[in-house]
Amino acid sequence: MPRIVYVNGRYLPYAEAGVHVEDRGFQFADSVYEVCEVKGGALIDTTRHLARLARSLSELKIAVPMAERALRHVLSEVVRRNRVRNGIVYLQVTRGQAARDFLFPGPDTEPTLVALARSIDPAKVAAKAKQGISIRSVPDQRWGRCDLKTVMLLPAALAKEVARTAGAQEAWFVDEAGFVTEGASSNAWIVRADGFVLTRPLDSRLLGGVTRATALEVLKAQGVPVEQRSFTIAEAQAAKEAFVTSASATVMPVVRIDGRAVADGKPGPVTLRLREKFHDLAEITPV
Ligand code: PDD
Repeated sequence: MPRIVYVNGRYLPYAEAGVHVEDRGFQFADSVYEVCEVKGGALIDTTRHLARLARSLSELKIAVPMAERALRHVLSEVVRRNRVRNGIVYLQVTRGQAARDFLFPGPDTEPTLVALARSIDPAKVAAKAKQGISIRSVPDQRWGRCDLKTVMLLPAALAKEVARTAGAQEAWFVDEAGFVTEGASSNAWIVRADGFVLTRPLDSRLLGGVTRATALEVLKAQGVPVEQRSFTIAEAQAAKEAFVTSASATVMPVVRIDGRAVADGKPGPVTLRLREKFHDLAEITPV
């Protein structure tokens, strides 16, 4: 559990950290966030995360809470104060506190900024990666701007619950045409029989994952052919390998999709090599 949480300029004990009941993040999900990996006491890919945060804020016309340098300091400070060596740092910005009204509040409304860090046992993640995870597919019923990292996560939470009930660890959203958009909290990938790695091209139906961007660079450096192309559940079930990427799990092998084993039901070599080499090309910022 985090011990110290950053809330609007103050580092508070976890039990005392809170925001107002009329915060727009609470009432309207009028809020964006980032999750960065912390590995070996360093922040991973901070520049990409902060660039995506800036884009999410700008697209929604939420004020930038502080300069990038100051944000970097807050991220480092919550990691340091919570003594997190491996885990994640979570950052959330809302449009701020105002009397409930659908219309945006006045320009004097200060955005709310919250940051916390949490440890994740790397041995547990490694054990999960050794085994691989199962996927359950669900219809994508989210909104039209999934390229923005907003806290409008109810469909993702519902999808994860459906997955859990089916004995799976992640859900894959499927669009009206039958193509996988992405995971509930990850990007989706397969390795086709001809060795090409496939992942959906970026559009408004999926989040441009930071891990996805770095993974594309790693695959390129490894000389692995990649095609950014949409794929169906049937194609994924017939693939040689499948995996998901996210800041909290980096590269996680997928071994079952809707009850069907992918290839021999074990993590594949392309996935494992990508997982092993991922941090060679990721940006590493000691806190
Ligand atoms: N989830 N797609 C969705 C819908 C996500 O929520 C995430 C991240 C990703 C992967 O993005 P990245 O590689 O930048 O983490 C893709 C984070 C980890 C979360 O909500 O906990």
